[in-house]
Amino acid sequence: MSDFKKEKYYITTPIYYVNDVPHIGHSYTTIAADTMARYMKFLGNDVYFLTGTDEHGQKIQKTAKAQGLTPKELADKVVVNFQNLWKKLDITNDFFVRTTDDYHIKCIQKAFKELYDKGDIYKGEYEGWYCIPCESYYSEIEIGKDKLCPSCGRKVDMVKEESYFFRLSAYEDKLLKFYEENPDFVLPKTRYNEIVSFVKSGLKDLSITRTSFDWGVPVPFDNKHVIYVWFDALLNYISAIGYAEKTEQFFKTWPADVHFVGKDILRFHAVYWPAFLMALDLPLPKHVVAHGWWTVDGKKMSKSLGNVVDPNDMIERYPKDAYRYFLLRNVPFGLDGDFSEKELIERINSELVNDLGNLLNRSITMVEKYTGGVVERPSDANDGSLKDKAQETLNNVKEDLNIFRFDEALSHIFEFIRFSNKYITQKEPWTLKKNKKDDELKEVLYNIISSLKFIAGIISPFMPDSADKILKQLGFEKKACEYSYEFFTDFYSIDKTTVKKGDVIFNRIDEIPKKKDEKAKKDNKQDKITIDEFFKVDLRTAKVLEAESVEKSKKLLKLKIDVGEKEPRTLVAGLKEHYKPEELVGKTIIVVANLKPAKLMGIESNGMLLAAKEDGAFPALLTVAQDVKPGTKIG
Ligand code: ME8
Ligand code: MG
Repeated sequence: MSDFKKEKYYITTPIYYVNDVPHIGHSYTTIAADTMARYMKFLGNDVYFLTGTDEHGQKIQKTAKAQGLTPKELADKVVVNFQNLWKKLDITNDFFVRTTDDYHIKCIQKAFKELYDKGDIYKGEYEGWYCIPCESYYSEIEIGKDKLCPSCGRKVDMVKEESYFFRLSAYEDKLLKFYEENPDFVLPKTRYNEIVSFVKSGLKDLSITRTSFDWGVPVPFDNKHVIYVWFDALLNYISAIGYAEKTEQFFKTWPADVHFVGKDILRFHAVYWPAFLMALDLPLPKHVVAHGWWTVDGKKMSKSLGNVVDPNDMIERYPKDAYRYFLLRNVPFGLDGDFSEKELIERINSELVNDLGNLLNRSITMVEKYTGGVVERPSDANDGSLKDKAQETLNNVKEDLNIFRFDEALSHIFEFIRFSNKYITQKEPWTLKKNKKDDELKEVLYNIISSLKFIAGIISPFMPDSADKILKQLGFEKKACEYSYEFFTDFYSIDKTTVKKGDVIFNRIDEIPKKKDEKAKKDNKQDKITIDEFFKVDLRTAKVLEAESVEKSKKLLKLKIDVGEKEPRTLVAGLKEHYKPEELVGKTIIVVANLKPAKLMGIESNGMLLAAKEDGAFPALLTVAQDVKPGTKIG
């Protein structure tokens, strides 16, 4: 990989199943891929970054049915969760592929037909142990004597069906030869060894169609079969860039430079996928990188444990850059990791606030105080210590990211940040100022600001939002991704700039921030409010003029009430189970008169009446002890 030639770089994430909402695991893979994409762009490469969703298969069909939806309706509903989350996390994908899209379906059918015509796909009969949630057959050895899925632990079923097969066995030797010639095809190395020994243990032909359900791409010449979801899914990496249409984009972009995956789906990507590609006479991807598995506070994430980490919640309560940073920093890429908010907070406070935030703050403060915010390149910028350290950091980061060691790269970057803080402490700009050593002061300040500019660039793939904020305080208005590699890495590239203090980029966090719903609960419990807060609620008496039942509603009554205004108001209340309409007419009740209008069963309700109610008991309507005019204020 050369740094200066514009090379294409094609990077992908798995396409996620739409039977579930995105969680920390999905966000991890996508953030890693996004960081790599941004880094490759930072180096000046022509990046194409793909993500998307996997929308076919029995699992999706079952989930949809359970929710009373068609599979496509389910997909349309869930896909938005992924797309919105990626936007919120600043993910820079160039395209979002959905396996229910036309070009994709066309591509699957075309590839299937081609392989059938060539003899790589043939018709046969399949019998085996099948795990529905995992969409996979397993061998006797794999399921053990309890007949449990080795992947998810659920019971597997014996399934027998007519099926088309992919001649995987014919690719055993070719795959082994390929692995041997490309020892960094699968990363990390331990995973490579796993894959090689799996293939060495022998490959059986792969059943790649199903007749037991119909939510999938039909075999083009035999439509009682649908194509196996993994054959369907893997081909997204070529369908999305126009394989079926043989577009220019396809020839420019393929092969992928890196497929990011979790270790759970490595076999599909490192064995089946290259075999499919060999059969299609297409070049193979350069790398498949498998990362480890996240647990939460030491436990496996599961809906039943209720410990699934929702990235939306995380970035509501923490800066999104802190979340990105933590995921990539806390665990060596490839190993399993444990997520804990306590550790996240520790990293925020020590590295993001103390090291990075502090460096920015003290630097900008000093420059504003000592030179009115202006820094300028001195006639000879010759104190090389920061420049050399920056160069060394850049080299280290390149070495690390070449083999996808995000954690190591970040550790080198933060070493540089601490080095810069130390530089300030050693140079004591405040003493230079006091002793009127103006030239030296200017040079030191210039070096510090140059350091921060370098930092903004080198962190921008990891923490794009913070990089932009730093640049802005340094007096550069564009986003980090709009500046060149040279701007960041030629250490003395700034001619002159005027810095400008902004908000702190990370705040110290002292306790775990409350979740939205917990917060609401807590706010509810707060027993003291101020008198001003109380008077925000406009409570008034109202006379019930008319009352009628709302058709088709079990609970609602529609009231016409006099609140002392020119026109009577309509108010809808849930009293039908307890009051007859005629019982209410003529009563003076208490209403919240300044409530925003709300539509209930198509009727606009203006206000809310008050009643004392215990759970399940008959509500006692609030009224007044003596006659007052409608619209009388209560206080
Ligand atoms: O497997 N820790 O989709 P999927 C880390 N549709 N990463 C995790 C994780 C965890 N606990 N849980 C999930 C599929 N992931 C197929 C892929 S690709 C052609 C088809 C991440 O929704 C990780 O990247 O089950 C894993 O590989 C992926 O989500 C599985 O997502
Ligand atoms: Mg999965």
